[in-house]
Amino acid sequence: MSGKRPPVEDFATDFDHTDDRWVADPYSIWDDLRGRCPVAHTDRYGGAWLPVRHDDVVAVAYDTEHFTSRSVVVSELRPGPDDLPAPIGLAPPITSDPPFHALARRMLLPAFSPKAVAGYEAYTRQLCRELLDAAGGAAVVDGSVDFARHIPLRVIVRMLGFPEADADVFRSFVRGTLEDVDESADQREARAEEATMERYMDERIAEHLASPSDDLTGFLLDAELDGHKLHPDHVRGTMVLLLIAGIDTTWSAVGASLWHLATHPGDRRRLAAAVAARAVAGAGEARLLDTAVEELLRAYAPVTMARLVAKDVELGGRQLREGDWLLLPFPAANRDPAAFPDAGKVVLDRAVNRHAAFGLGIHRCLGSNLARMELRIALEEWLTRYPDFELADPAGVVWSAGQIRGPRVLPLRVA
Ligand code: HEM
Repeated sequence: MSGKRPPVEDFATDFDHTDDRWVADPYSIWDDLRGRCPVAHTDRYGGAWLPVRHDDVVAVAYDTEHFTSRSVVVSELRPGPDDLPAPIGLAPPITSDPPFHALARRMLLPAFSPKAVAGYEAYTRQLCRELLDAAGGAAVVDGSVDFARHIPLRVIVRMLGFPEADADVFRSFVRGTLEDVDESADQREARAEEATMERYMDERIAEHLASPSDDLTGFLLDAELDGHKLHPDHVRGTMVLLLIAGIDTTWSAVGASLWHLATHPGDRRRLAAAVAARAVAGAGEARLLDTAVEELLRAYAPVTMARLVAKDVELGGRQLREGDWLLLPFPAANRDPAAFPDAGKVVLDRAVNRHAAFGLGIHRCLGSNLARMELRIALEEWLTRYPDFELADPAGVVWSAGQIRGPRVLPLRVA
């Protein structure tokens, strides 16, 4: 956090997900809360709740009657009941509630099917190799800045058919939306990024309308809901959502996985050997990369979502009131020992792993096929190039603050 808020004394009664201690190590905080106060509260952000048990996270994720997705990022700007276009929200389907949600989601599914995603695998691999080539020769490579952050950004920009040179525009926009949540309401309102982004999207939409193309933007412009083409606000909102939902999340997952391998040499050696053996049919631990991807997603799940309480409801013995925020920490559910044996330990070949990294219920991640493909290829290519690496400067690692957790600076010694 940027030091703008007073430090937290007790996370049970005054939690803050941008506090330095949470940013450095949320796991011990959740473990502590699970033991003594499974649903924590804070007066910060105008009042918010935090369940940390797997069962409570599941209960909220499936309960769309008492919890609305109208706003999924906790900030000082808490929308009132009439501030957002319910049930559509600003970025359908993630901000939509039933029954509209199902329509908005169903329409997008074909664009993220395993088959559609497979079409971007060769590009993703080539991109990873180019990034590694660009960093080639250096003794220290930043796994986050030089590698992880470019992958989902460049892939989604390509999918949307936007100019690759515009990647930096999106990066600053995503940061503003997800990471600067401890700014005051006035600061956030004063920031003009959202307006700039809308203008940018409108220009791309106009270009695509003038000369139709076979990309995701073209797909959205052709898509129909109830027999009607989408309203331009809906197309723009979905584009913004895909950029926000796909970039920081996958960047964080790739970065956190590299951080784990850098700090756990046994796991790194084992996975690197499995990747090397994949080239030889039937050799080594053929499935290890697949189970490792799931386990790294479970253990370092990057995404915590939020809900607003739609109707008064009880949760874990606490009385939640309409309009309260609730942080929905899928990563904490994944670390609950009641749901996963050895929950705090990374077990690369964990056989049963029904983790919640991609969420649960109707909003379960629509980009999970894409995210898994990007993470698998990123790890495969990194480990092929650098089977041997470690943290170059443990104190120099910087983790993001806010609802998406991952390393933003990750200097790795590769030679
Ligand atoms: C490792 C990477 C990713 C993780 C951990 C992740 C996680 C999540 C989670 C937890 C949700 C549930 C939200 C909620 O309950 O409110 C979600 C929803 C969503 N994600 Fe992802 N995500 C990732 C990558 C992506 C990518 C690459 C895309 C697409 C480009 C994407 C698109 C979406 C969309 C559209 C939704 C909303 C689905 C709905 O509301 O029905 N995500 N994601």
